[in-house]
Amino acid sequence: MITVSAPGKLMILGEHAVVYGRPCLVTAVDQRLSVSAERSDDGKTHVDAPQVKETRFVDAAVSKFFQTKGKALDQTGVRLKIRSDFTHQVGFGSSSAVSVATLRALAILFDTPVDDDEIFQLAYDVTLDIQRVGSGFDIAAATYGGTIAYQKGRPVSSFSHGVPLIVGYTGTKADTPTLIREVAAKRALYPEKVERIFDAISDLVNQGKKSIASGDWELLGKAMNFTQEYLRDLGVSSEKLESMISGAKKAGAWGAKLSGAGGGDCMIAIAPEDKREDVENALVQAGGIVMDVTTHSRGVRVESRDFPVAPATYGVPRTIFLEQAPS
Ligand code: PMV
Repeated sequence: MITVSAPGKLMILGEHAVVYGRPCLVTAVDQRLSVSAERSDDGKTHVDAPQVKETRFVDAAVSKFFQTKGKALDQTGVRLKIRSDFTHQVGFGSSSAVSVATLRALAILFDTPVDDDEIFQLAYDVTLDIQRVGSGFDIAAATYGGTIAYQKGRPVSSFSHGVPLIVGYTGTKADTPTLIREVAAKRALYPEKVERIFDAISDLVNQGKKSIASGDWELLGKAMNFTQEYLRDLGVSSEKLESMISGAKKAGAWGAKLSGAGGGDCMIAIAPEDKREDVENALVQAGGIVMDVTTHSRGVRVESRDFPVAPATYGVPRTIFLEQAPS
């Protein structure tokens, strides 16, 4: 038996624009999802996942592994047990985490060297097969972990530290593919205006990169506020998100915005340390739920195993260019 875990994620800046090739900033959170895998001798895949609504992503990840790695599942079977610190409702990316952790667990269980870049690519293929749309930023966070700048298909650079975010959950589940399609429809109607918004969001990501590298949270907050205005223009905010965001700002946050596709899920805020509690109280006042998470969690990793493992099957950690504080 091998147990592998992968982290959930939060989008810091750049959502929606990243679907159209612009960069974004994402951090892995310390709430994780784990996959325990062992061989079974009946040639079947057994999935025990009481916390997840459906097992499409696990099933697709299993098929993808056996198809691409040329192993015949009929010679052996596999038993998978999925456990998670978070539900699929909060928008921390359970589908990506489960795809990534399943692929890494299978690679180790079946003694197949697969590096992190390949795990990322296979899991991204699984998402595209199922959802058709998506930038893959959530898969990058689950695979590589930490806090990274990401551009469709590849992590661009990383940071040596995370961001002290305050996270509020709206209580409503958002449907990411629907929101992506709504933005696509708006872009089809107003191509120039929407492209200008994406460019503006992209500029704010580049500014945010420097703010994170130098730990200038006040400036990062400003980029978050500005981004939120563009996201509102794109039509992806919601009343609940807006009241949590304005509550956080009134309580002293430097900045606040939705995180992810919008429509529900979570918002994030950044505030001076002595205002943190006030901001959290304001989120509760606005009907939200404060999530106890820290950022910059490690990417997919082995938690335990009861058999010897060749180091290559752990995957070679990718070295991503480290952003430095501007001098
Ligand atoms: O809803 P989430 O947390 O999966 O985030 C979606 C972010 C988008 O940019 C809208 C889509 C994507 O795949 O990048």
